[in-house]
Amino acid sequence: MSDSISKKKIEYIQQKDEFDYLRSLLDSLDKGNCVGILLQGPPGTGKTLLAISLAKAYKAPYYIIDGSPDLDRRDIEGNWELLKDETKFNYGPLTLAIKDANNEGIAFIIINEINAIRENEQISLNSLLSENHINLI
Ligand SMILES: Nc1ncnc2c1ncn2[C@@H]1O[C@H](COP(=O)(O)OP(=O)(O)OP(=O)(O)O)[C@@H](O)[C@H]1O
Ligand SMILES: [Mg+2]
Repeated sequence: MSDSISKKKIEYIQQKDEFDYLRSLLDSLDKGNCVGILLQGPPGTGKTLLAISLAKAYKAPYYIIDGSPDLDRRDIEGNWELLKDETKFNYGPLTLAIKDANNEGIAFIIINEINAIRENEQISLNSLLSENHINLI
């Protein structure tokens, strides 16, 4: 839930009005809505920091997924673990965020390098991304 960026407490400095724009966009969403926002740009331009700062502005829980070709669908959704005489569900970032959103009204999933995730594994994220999809470049 935290990483080196959040530990250093660096504040995102907006270049134009992108932070305010995203805030007003999220403010305008009705309860129960889910929105996928694609931030696209060169490395080190503050995309991850912007996403984290946005989550913090809402005092919302957030989960970071680092996309890679090795990422398994179960790493995103969670998995069932077979114990001695029971099965236990280990929550993944996606299911944790859904749980948090239901409890707290809002939650963020921040995915770095989404294009590195294999197509089959991206299926888990389709429900999040397809409904309302906004590209921010
Ligand atoms: N607008 C900004 N305001 C404040 N700090 C910034 C900004 N843009 C970049 N930085 C600095 O650059 C660092 C890297 O930013 P970040 O990791 O968010 O970039 P990124 O776009 O996600 O990069 P990558 O594409 O490699 O994932 C930040 O930790 C911060 O120190
Ligand atoms: Mg990043």
